[in-house]
Amino acid sequence: MQAGRRPQLPVPDPVIVARLRAAGCVFAEEEARLLASAARTPDELDAMVDRRAAGLPIEQVVGWAEFCGLRIAVDPGVFVPRRRTEFLVQQAALLARGDEPFFPPRPPRTVMARPGAVVVDLCCGTGAIAAALAATVDRAEVHAVDIDPAAVACARRNVAGQVYEGDLYEPLPDGLRGRVSILVANVPYVPSGEIGFLPPESRAYEPLVALDGGADGLDVLRRVAAGAPGWLAPGGHLLIETSQRQVPSAEAAFAAGGLITQVASSADLDATVVLGSLSSEAGKDLP
Ligand SMILES: C[S@@+](CC[C@H](N)C(=O)[O-])C[C@H]1O[C@@H](n2cnc3c(N)ncnc32)[C@H](O)[C@@H]1O
Repeated sequence: MQAGRRPQLPVPDPVIVARLRAAGCVFAEEEARLLASAARTPDELDAMVDRRAAGLPIEQVVGWAEFCGLRIAVDPGVFVPRRRTEFLVQQAALLARGDEPFFPPRPPRTVMARPGAVVVDLCCGTGAIAAALAATVDRAEVHAVDIDPAAVACARRNVAGQVYEGDLYEPLPDGLRGRVSILVANVPYVPSGEIGFLPPESRAYEPLVALDGGADGLDVLRRVAAGAPGWLAPGGHLLIETSQRQVPSAEAAFAAGGLITQVASSADLDATVVLGSLSSEAGKDLP
């Protein structure tokens, strides 16, 4: 992972621009520049243009995506981090630092959120969210989980922290129970019946396990929300990205898990995040 300062990109080769444009790439000039800057030899450039023209996401072709100002490694077959997910990171970072996030109305009092907080990224994919939070939250103790071995291998290249392979909370060490200040999850949330409407490059080159959220898209979200109270510290927060349409059902799932729930959206990033906070009094009546 490297800080993402935009390099000076070369002038695009018109032949490559034409090949990309013919393949349906809307940003052909920009992509031609990017590919030329990523390739080490003319043969490699040719192969990259072929792969892009065949429909592979540009991030999987060049091997990285820019996310929250970082260069995140993206391996073939791993979900490409989306720009809208930066909103989830912004909200989580504010909470982790003990600052007010932009949720209307004000969030419940933050007790455990502080620099050095335990941060867990479930369904981490490339680990983009975990990497961004590790870079933003001072001394954060970061853990990340994914069920897909390809994603886990990729996340291990990006995340300065522990990356586990397994189903949601299952591989996390028991010692984290009740200690997690910030739990983030960009779960698969496309309803099964709508997978066919996704862009072809997503359907063909991102795994179904990264996209398909079941009948209403909320199967994984419900399991994350139900399990969260067992892992959150008192006053800790769960943040999950959803679509606007899924908000009522997502809020109900958070509330069923005993979380105090709020919603925030960003029109600029076309992003919606559901926040659930565990009461700062949670667990006080336990023996
Ligand atoms: C929408 S992608 C998000 C990836 C990453 N968080 C991001 O925002 O770029 C969802 C990820 O969840 C993982 N996943 C799906 N079901 C899972 C489960 N039961 N346990 C852990 N990871 C899971 C997929 O492998 C995929 O990497």
